[in-house]
Amino acid sequence: MKRKLVSVLLTAALSMSLLAGCASESADTAAESAAPAAEAAKEEAAPAAEEAAPAEEAAAEGQTIGIAMPTQSLERWNRDGSYLKDQFESKGYTVELTYSDNKIDQQVKDIEGLIADEVDLLVIAAIDGESLSNVLADAKDAGIPVISYDRLIMNTDAVSYYVSFDNYTVGTLQGQFVIDTLDLDNAGDAVYNIEFTAGDPADNNAGFFFNGAFDTLKPYIEAGTLNIVSGQSEFDKVATAAWDTATAMERFQNILGSYYSDGTQLDVALCSNDSTALGVTQAIESDYAGDNDVIITGQDGDVANLRNIKDGKQTMTVYKAVANEAVATLDLGIALLNGETPDANLISDSGWTFDCAYDTASYDNGTGIIPSYLLVPTVVTAENMEKELVETGYYIVDSEGYLEAQ
Ligand code: GAL
Repeated sequence: MKRKLVSVLLTAALSMSLLAGCASESADTAAESAAPAAEAAKEEAAPAAEEAAPAEEAAAEGQTIGIAMPTQSLERWNRDGSYLKDQFESKGYTVELTYSDNKIDQQVKDIEGLIADEVDLLVIAAIDGESLSNVLADAKDAGIPVISYDRLIMNTDAVSYYVSFDNYTVGTLQGQFVIDTLDLDNAGDAVYNIEFTAGDPADNNAGFFFNGAFDTLKPYIEAGTLNIVSGQSEFDKVATAAWDTATAMERFQNILGSYYSDGTQLDVALCSNDSTALGVTQAIESDYAGDNDVIITGQDGDVANLRNIKDGKQTMTVYKAVANEAVATLDLGIALLNGETPDANLISDSGWTFDCAYDTASYDNGTGIIPSYLLVPTVVTAENMEKELVETGYYIVDSEGYLEAQ
């Protein structure tokens, strides 16, 4: 009872700090606060794996998992850190969880600290995929296996495996959503105006998201059915450093000022994720002269964006069930700690109830292909939000009908 109350209070505290956009980098608070959701997701995701065999627990005893997350200022990483911590602790492991405030040097230091603490496994979501080669050479020397979590770590042979969602598919889902919503295949002579906003160039995922969306929409751009009024069609032009909301907002205000202030109608703002979609939505609210509903895409199911979707300000988000990503990471981590060389069989052996593909072709980190476990993302709109996010146990509905973290 008492624990439940503490969790509820901490959940409220986390939601408030996220809404205020000023989440501190206190890992423990976030981990505690999302614990109930992690428990629910774990039961949902892997009932069979729920009870750790006593021998397994005993083996875990004394073993420590080092988890390095990028930042608490982007909502999803709070969930990832919490779910991962909860999963590994449920099997008897000790967890050291770090957040590095989106600062590359800080993340290197944090990982150095985890290596110095002699962790047995590293799970890392990189801030900058290119900046961890040296520190991970130390991990390799120390014999610590490394799982690249969600974002691929580049140019190091210290990475054993990659766990993520199918990142290219995230983009294709966004592009296909635009095609379906505007019925572009039956558009005739109609021309719809579109602008792109992509993610952080330091994040290997960002190019996959953008390319997935752009490739899907390219035939319609080439046919003239979609028109990029600003002409900004290349990743480098539309990228957003650190996936930062304010940066995305300022760029979009400039676009609206330069290309749409004469009354030109904007039909689509294709945004790679929710933090950038939030900035673009703010720019449209403050600086767009038109009064049509602009189709705005996103990714992650951040609480503020789910609110905007319900209120009709954002049109969709691509949801990635990070609770399942944590379950996959746990089972992969256990196999690695047992000295195994996991392959496609890990998926069936683990009894996961969610879809996952074993991919040995798509992700080359510069030292060769990194074997990958790729989960499947889902489109969420106002219509299916309750079914996909509430009935599945990831979120609850608050007294005003908005979704909040479980
Ligand atoms: C990506 C991640 C996305 C999104 C983004 C911003 O690497 O796959 O889900 O959250 O980072 O943090």
